[in-house]
Amino acid sequence: MTDIAPAIARTVPDLRALVASWRAEGKRVGLVPTMGALHAGHISLVEIARRHADRIIVSIFVNPTQFAPTEDFSKYPRTFEADLAKLTGIGTDAVYAPTVEVMYPPDAATTVSLKGPATAGLEDIARPFHFAGVATIVAKLFTQSAPDVAVFGEKDFQQLAVIRRMAADLDLPVEVIGAPTVREADGLAMSSRNVYLSAENRAKAPELHRIMQAASSGIVAGEAPESTLARARKAIAAAGFTPDYLELRDAADLGEPRIGRPRRLLAAATLGTTRLLDNIAVD
Ligand code: PAF
Repeated sequence: MTDIAPAIARTVPDLRALVASWRAEGKRVGLVPTMGALHAGHISLVEIARRHADRIIVSIFVNPTQFAPTEDFSKYPRTFEADLAKLTGIGTDAVYAPTVEVMYPPDAATTVSLKGPATAGLEDIARPFHFAGVATIVAKLFTQSAPDVAVFGEKDFQQLAVIRRMAADLDLPVEVIGAPTVREADGLAMSSRNVYLSAENRAKAPELHRIMQAASSGIVAGEAPESTLARARKAIAAAGFTPDYLELRDAADLGEPRIGRPRRLLAAATLGTTRLLDNIAVD
């Protein structure tokens, strides 16, 4: 690996020319889609992508269509130069940073329509248009870069399930790889939005993960899930969060848990003005 900064592509033809040159050399291509504001969790996605591909593209695009008008699109952290520095020397070959006009020309009129995990009654309740925006932009990133593999964090577990389903349903020739959540030393799942937390709320934030772990242990030990989850929801509220959901689901399709299949505990809760998401395996 060199210390040379990644090539920067800003248009679809530039990106395709780069990918074509790698393909001509017989290289496998990996894609790590991001919205920038990179942290150690994103860096781990690049490291995982490198195990599966010879050339790595990191896309940086804050996708307007996955934010509701009431959400934080305009204040979402944009740190392009710092992101580029973080991607240098870790085996990123190209950064794809298109403009909104490249991704959404004025006459664009097509979106991906979703059911299945996208309508599981989790994030989609609070953010009804979010996954259509995510799936549309990810489908475009896939067709623009034509990667062999693409890596997404398990931190956004419903997003990962939606993208897997979409890639399978649309026969997109890309292997979707899920990467384990990277956590701060105190257990808080890394997220670009953690910068919004006040010092006081940053200290409280890991409590969500601790409560989830306790609930998971109880369920694994044989407690009835419904009463354990009800207790955990109360504990989340008592710790100062506004709980949104805490649900036990089938880990593959996010439907109701089924005997003999992996289960996942998923939560969202607001602390101050920051919405925190987390999920853990229950096994
Ligand atoms: O997880 C994210 O950062 C975004 O939802 C993604 C996958 C890059 C699509 O904009």
